[in-house]
Amino acid sequence: MATNRYFFAVWPPAVTATALARWASVLEGRRTAADKIHLTLAFLGVVSPDKALAAAGRVRGQRHDVPIEKAQYWRHNRIVWAGPRATPTPLKGLVESLQLALYKAEYILERRAFAAHVTLLRSAPPPRELPPLPAVEWPVNEFTLVRSANSSKGSVYEVVERFAL
Ligand code: 2AM
Repeated sequence: MATNRYFFAVWPPAVTATALARWASVLEGRRTAADKIHLTLAFLGVVSPDKALAAAGRVRGQRHDVPIEKAQYWRHNRIVWAGPRATPTPLKGLVESLQLALYKAEYILERRAFAAHVTLLRSAPPPRELPPLPAVEWPVNEFTLVRSANSSKGSVYEVVERFAL
């Protein structure tokens, strides 16, 4: 039976996703398809999403941009990611407001500090070097609740709800 996991995320414009997917395509590892490239704000796991929908509806955040200025390999989970050098203040504010609203709605979130990252490769061997990133724009005007369902082709993402900023 399919297991649904839920998470909150922001999505890049298609042109940015395509450029990031192309950047990753020269590296070894399991690539994130362009249409699945996202930045996770909060991961809920296997839950009933009803209260999360209501909680997210009460979150107020500011529109902002996510600068994609750094790429890195993480040995602990063998991913290659791209993202900002430091979490932009409005993104940090959005994540904190969302986390607080989710705690109040009695969701259990990871204690791990939020690290803004966009996973581009999984199960990746340590790369010899990471090429320079393309110049891309990532305006954030909304965030989404996403359902991730397992399938024979890997996980399938479906946006459940959009929350305008
Ligand atoms: P990752 O890219 O670093 O793996 C969907 O799985 C999204 O939720 C991914 O972006 C993933 O981050 C993130 N996520 C955060 N915590 C997770 C967890 N405990 N299990 C699976 N995904 C998690």
